[in-house]
Amino acid sequence: MEKPSDLFVFDTPEQLAIAAAERFVDYEYPFHGEPDRFSVALAGGNTPRRVYELLATERFKHRVEWSQVDLFFGDERCVPPDHPDSNYAMAYEALLSKVAIPATNVHRIIGEGNPQESAQLYENQLRTFFAGASWPRFDLVLLGMGEDGHTASLFPGSEALSEKSKWVAVTRHEALRQDRITLTVPVFNQARRVIFLIRGKEKAQRLKDVLHPQPGSGLVPAQAIQPFDGSLEWLVDSDAASLL
Ligand code: 6PG
Repeated sequence: MEKPSDLFVFDTPEQLAIAAAERFVDYEYPFHGEPDRFSVALAGGNTPRRVYELLATERFKHRVEWSQVDLFFGDERCVPPDHPDSNYAMAYEALLSKVAIPATNVHRIIGEGNPQESAQLYENQLRTFFAGASWPRFDLVLLGMGEDGHTASLFPGSEALSEKSKWVAVTRHEALRQDRITLTVPVFNQARRVIFLIRGKEKAQRLKDVLHPQPGSGLVPAQAIQPFDGSLEWLVDSDAASLL
């Protein structure tokens, strides 16, 4: 990517979160009154928490027809759903417990079971939802990026990065010694819209590497996300953008 036209820089993390929440409601709006459902894969980690909190506020929550929304997760840590590390727990606390979304529209990844079995269950769930499709097509995918360039739970060097047929894979965060379950690269690349949410100075160098790769530098997982027939937006705060 030479100079991404879809890079949006915000002065503060709060402005970034508001912009992401605005996009969520804007992209969901065309689904009102339509038979199709608005399918979203949520990001984990800390950055999206404020986006989810905002979506649950008076300012935003009435602009979304929650019964029309199906929420999935881009990845999950292999922990129980009430564990502090659980992406589901974070989304539940910040958003799901506060809006009128039917429980059947929330499709969590089971973090507490056998990871391989949970990955298969999640893939089955997705195949049922996206019935008959060779790949799922999410209407919106939210992603973050770690300092090492990982996205969802696709870590540098992970075998899952080259997955070509599975929709869901088991990976491992080696430093934390934590198993993870993640959607695979082709799934993200089939999405209609992908939004990366990046904040903080500690991400600045990696963001520069990703958006302006130098010849000969190795690829990091976030660079594999290039929707075939969809949009890719980078919403970043000024700290993360400070080296661009
Ligand atoms: C997770 C993620 C992961 C995350 C990045 C950025 O479950 O941890 O989905 O890919 O988005 O690590 O996380 P922060 O927003 O916390 O920096």
